[in-house]
Amino acid sequence: MYEQQSHFLLNNILDQLKPEIRRRDLRHFYTRLGANFYAIHSLFHRLYGQREDFEEQLLRLVSVMAGQYIARSDELKALDASRERDHLWFLSQEWVGMALYLDGFAGDLHGLDERVPYLQELGVNMVHVMPILECPRGASDGGYAVNNFRDIDDRAGTLEDLRTLGSDLRRRNMLLTLDVVVNHTSDEHEWARRARQGEQRYQDYYYVFANRDIPDLFEQSMPEVFPETAPGNFTFDEAMNKWVMTVFNTYQWDLNYTNPAVFIEMLDIILFWANQGADILRLDAVAFLWKKIGTTSQNEREAHLILQLFKDCCQVTAPGVLFIAEAIVAPVEIIKYFGEDAVIAKECEIAYNATFMALLWDALATHNAKLLNQSISNLPDKLDRATWLNYVRCHDDIGLGFDDADIRAVGYDPAAHRRFILDYYTGSWADSPARGQAFGRNEKTGDARISGTLASLVGLEAALAAGDADEVQRSIDQILLLHSLILSFGGIPLLYYGDELGTLNNYAYSVDPAKTQDNRWLHRPAYDWQRAELRHQRGSVEQRIFDGLKQLIAVRKSLPALADFNNRELIDVGNPHLFVFTRNDLASPQESVLVVANFSDFPEQFDLNDLRNRGRFTVGELRDAVSGASPEQFNEQLVIPANGFYWLMCSPY
Ligand code: GLC
Repeated sequence: MYEQQSHFLLNNILDQLKPEIRRRDLRHFYTRLGANFYAIHSLFHRLYGQREDFEEQLLRLVSVMAGQYIARSDELKALDASRERDHLWFLSQEWVGMALYLDGFAGDLHGLDERVPYLQELGVNMVHVMPILECPRGASDGGYAVNNFRDIDDRAGTLEDLRTLGSDLRRRNMLLTLDVVVNHTSDEHEWARRARQGEQRYQDYYYVFANRDIPDLFEQSMPEVFPETAPGNFTFDEAMNKWVMTVFNTYQWDLNYTNPAVFIEMLDIILFWANQGADILRLDAVAFLWKKIGTTSQNEREAHLILQLFKDCCQVTAPGVLFIAEAIVAPVEIIKYFGEDAVIAKECEIAYNATFMALLWDALATHNAKLLNQSISNLPDKLDRATWLNYVRCHDDIGLGFDDADIRAVGYDPAAHRRFILDYYTGSWADSPARGQAFGRNEKTGDARISGTLASLVGLEAALAAGDADEVQRSIDQILLLHSLILSFGGIPLLYYGDELGTLNNYAYSVDPAKTQDNRWLHRPAYDWQRAELRHQRGSVEQRIFDGLKQLIAVRKSLPALADFNNRELIDVGNPHLFVFTRNDLASPQESVLVVANFSDFPEQFDLNDLRNRGRFTVGELRDAVSGASPEQFNEQLVIPANGFYWLMCSPY
């Protein structure tokens, strides 16, 4: 948008840019800057307009964007241009991701490069390598406490190794996803060290207070993220003799975004990683970016403005790079991280579908899809140029983040229902085969979340220990059932490393002093590559899961109906055990897919005629795209096996 005041300011800024910037050919940069500058200026002004040095800060912001544009390689600039041409490229059904810890999966970056063929064998073409930046030697929150935002930890490799991995992936048409931990640094980061040495400039990078007055005010309304291991949201720092805000662990210092210098530093870091070849940046803990006394200090309006500003700036310098919002918050809040509008108030193109994830676990424990159906039907449509990251589990705990009103609507009491789910997965429910553990139990609120690998949570660990072949089969069926849903729901499915082999809980973490306090390490496996070889042995658990998933992934990629264009329609078939939806192929409707999932331990049925009468299907024969077979029918009742699923095609005329 053209607007006189901001345009005048932009011209002034351009005149003041250093000669080495002005001399370059920045044509694409300037056209994008012109297009986005009104928004950038407005957002920056809303956040920092009250400061006397506002214009100086804005000049620094533009200089950072220009500097990183100049540093961006021609190869990446060409990729930007091709993604501008095909701007919905990431909505395709062809993308399938996996998140992994580098050390557990492959040792280091060289190792990962060697394991890329394994990922390709499965069909994975987007890799999220969890944090590999310099971090403390002891506890580092799995790398989410960063010492240096611009260098790779020497245990993982070097920046050069990462660039090599990036270009190797690009050659194979695969995507690289990296984290940017935007909310905090470790207490060993240079900014924290200089703050400790008394430098006011760096104390202003954090929330630092001389006494408990302000912290106490904050504490009245701020929840605790790690109540057992890091209660409260502030830590006393002896060197400063002051309190510093630490929402996560005591060694993770929250960055203060009321200071524009922090915003500009972090933008520079985001663009730096874009320039190292990341296609997608996962912005960590974005719900926490703005703190306000009297609130939970989560999902604040300003946190959204910061993300909009990051996006507007990144689009000027590196428009081909996407953002993932890691905001594991209430369903109505998550959707806001896409932004309000795909053009004028955009934020992250991708967001974790934590709601769907939690609901899948609910359906599995209750053997019915009542809450899943209820909650998904209340999920608003997202923006057009935005997509979900659908996952069964990730490296974090599983939180029961569904809505109390939805729980009541299906006839449960919210507190009792959550307690049941927790008991079910932590194995204290008599009939449960799950082997999870409670994480982050909060005695004050009664809240807790769940740790444990997918395989151990669905009962594979117990079944193998008991030598019960039927139960082993049931666990495998459930693993495939859950994946069949994240692969068909609409969005990018994000597998979690180890799940493709049915990896069980890793209890070894408890002897490592840096990990013992955090049972999320139960489900952060170290690969046994010999065991992975069992995927080639017919009939092994590994082979049944790996091949099942591989097949699902291959079929997903072949079905354009599974691309994400808000083309999903939930269908109530009157059977509470079933979760049923269509994925409409907008270009060729006869290629639409009907997804049917059965959460019961028994076969279930529904009336196909009823669907036909409602105009869903015009033609007779149904074919399951996964197996290629026609499913069982009896008197027009479609029969779905226990813990089974179908991706049904209408057979063309
Ligand atoms: C994110 C990460 C999690 C970490 C937290 C604090 O939620 O996924 O592992 O503990 O941020 O950085």
